[in-house]
Amino acid sequence: MSGNKVILLEDVYKIYNQRFGDVIALNGVSLSVDEGEFIAIMGPSGSGKSTLLNQLGILDVPTSGELLIDGHNTRLLDDTRLTRLRRDKIGYIFQKFNLIPTLTAYENVEYPSILQKKRRDDSGRAYELLESVGISRERAGHTPNELSGGQQQRVAIARALINDPTILLCDEPTGNLDSKTGLQIMDMLTELNDSGRTIVMVTHDSNIADYADRTIVLADGRIVS
Ligand SMILES: Nc1ncnc2c1ncn2[C@@H]1O[C@H](COP(=O)(O)OP(=O)(O)O)[C@@H](O)[C@H]1O
Ligand SMILES: [Mg+2]
Repeated sequence: MSGNKVILLEDVYKIYNQRFGDVIALNGVSLSVDEGEFIAIMGPSGSGKSTLLNQLGILDVPTSGELLIDGHNTRLLDDTRLTRLRRDKIGYIFQKFNLIPTLTAYENVEYPSILQKKRRDDSGRAYELLESVGISRERAGHTPNELSGGQQQRVAIARALINDPTILLCDEPTGNLDSKTGLQIMDMLTELNDSGRTIVMVTHDSNIADYADRTIVLADGRIVS
């Protein structure tokens, strides 16, 4: 279904009202992402990259403008439906991994599936995903603080995939990793994109952005190229 728009942003503004004045974090951004695309978002610090990714991930609500995910206009959905859309369509990968420290790697991966199915996962899918990102069964019993940064990011990727999302959103996915481990993570994201997932990734590193099909550059909350 290539050519199918999975993300459509129309004239999106995000304005933070601060005591010292308004901060216009997104200043009329329009963006369309086709199914299967791999897009990098670049731009200097403070240009609105994370704010933009948070809108795409429905982790935040635009001040104005429209956001359609998989054809659904998010403004027209109630909280239950928005939660479902986030949970079922979108996988999140963060710079700092954001694993739950008290859960094992296995339990971290299983967790979004429990939220979806309201019961523990007995299909073995969490183990399969962990294996596919190079985390053994034995290692899956470890908590995040017993794993290296690269291993934690692998677990986070497996977690992002557990509900089989269409879209992967990554905010500086290699930002906390050494360059060799970073490249392994990028190879993994490339494979996931080759197998049909749409990826939108924020990075300030042009070598990392080179993995994408298309790069968007933000400055002061606007797309400049
Ligand atoms: N929760 C917030 N409250 C107020 N201002 C914010 C908030 N989040 C981001 N900003 C401001 O919005 C602008 C864009 O921030 P951000 O999207 O984090 O940029 P980037 O990810 O490109 O570094 C910055 O000026 C930042 O200070
Ligand atoms: Mg940021």
